[in-house]
Amino acid sequence: METLKKYLQEVEDVIKAQAYGDQPRELYDPISYIMSLGGKRLRPLLTILGYRLFKKDHEQILKAAISVEVFHNFTLMHDDIMDQAPLRRGQQTVHEKWSEPVAILSGDVMLVRAYDLLLSVPADKLAAVLKRFNATAAEVCEGQQHDMNFEQETAVTEARYIDMIRQKTAVLLGYSLELGAILAGADEASAKKLYEFGVKIGIGFQLKDDLLDVYAEQDKFGKQVGGDIISNKKTFLLINALERANHTQSGALKYWLDQKDFDKEQKVKAVMTIYDELQIKELTLHKMNQYFQEGFALLDQLDIDPVGKKELIDFAQYLIERDK
Ligand code: IPE
Ligand code: IPE
Ligand code: MG
Ligand code: MG
Ligand code: MG
Repeated sequence: METLKKYLQEVEDVIKAQAYGDQPRELYDPISYIMSLGGKRLRPLLTILGYRLFKKDHEQILKAAISVEVFHNFTLMHDDIMDQAPLRRGQQTVHEKWSEPVAILSGDVMLVRAYDLLLSVPADKLAAVLKRFNATAAEVCEGQQHDMNFEQETAVTEARYIDMIRQKTAVLLGYSLELGAILAGADEASAKKLYEFGVKIGIGFQLKDDLLDVYAEQDKFGKQVGGDIISNKKTFLLINALERANHTQSGALKYWLDQKDFDKEQKVKAVMTIYDELQIKELTLHKMNQYFQEGFALLDQLDIDPVGKKELIDFAQYLIERDK
């Protein structure tokens, strides 16, 4: 964990040193704002950890590592508009603090800045890095669209949900690791395996995010607890509650899903009560652990430096146990 803290500090320092732009201020202030609100910085950390499985001079790739963090923050800025979220990392979301048009355009220019940062990679690696980045970024958008489409659908299966979170969340964790491997000159098969590991733990990670959205402590979480319930997100929790519900519970769930005008707190409470009755929390934790375990099994197939491997497993362990 000591080394992880060191890498995190390095990531924070490089983020702080970035100049995203100056004028007009409405375009650039939101970028400094969202980037300074903290966050776990897990994607750049994964790039560093991925790199260190093969090479140790990760100071060389810090700019490339934060490109995935800038991209991630761009997706959050737009995601918060889509999800009508009031809070991000304990502060007002950009569209609430400024406006939706500002959040759209600031987000757009952040995507451009992510590309600028990727330009720091060695010329002989640039094409490979960009090709995989573009494929990943398009998949994130596909996942986001499915996520929104599912809000209006009643019969979303667990399999479609898993595929949706694989796209919106997991592929970026996979890419972050793969980026590190590519930059370290790892062979293609190893880079691919690492990507697959990232996708597995990324699915586990989003399952935990969905769980925290219902069960986190508001002050720690930094996002609006209950937001997914309010907006009828077809999360693993809701899909499984609908599946396991008895007649009464199913009636109540459908009632709340159909309400257009409702007291938010009342809806969250009612749905949570049903989740508790059906032990949805335990079920979600079980599924999350399954994906992390599948990830660890993939990692075992890789012939990599054991110290680097341990750092990566420790980090994944922290993602499992996190409370925000
Ligand atoms: C939030 O990501 C969006 C998801 C993909 C679940 P994080 O949980 O990594 O958010 P920060 O960057 O730490 O705030
Ligand atoms: C967001 O999923 C995934 C992306 C930002 C692409 P969520 O909508 O669950 O993320 P949070 O909970 O708002 O961070
Ligand atoms: Mg969302
Ligand atoms: Mg959201
Ligand atoms: Mg969420």
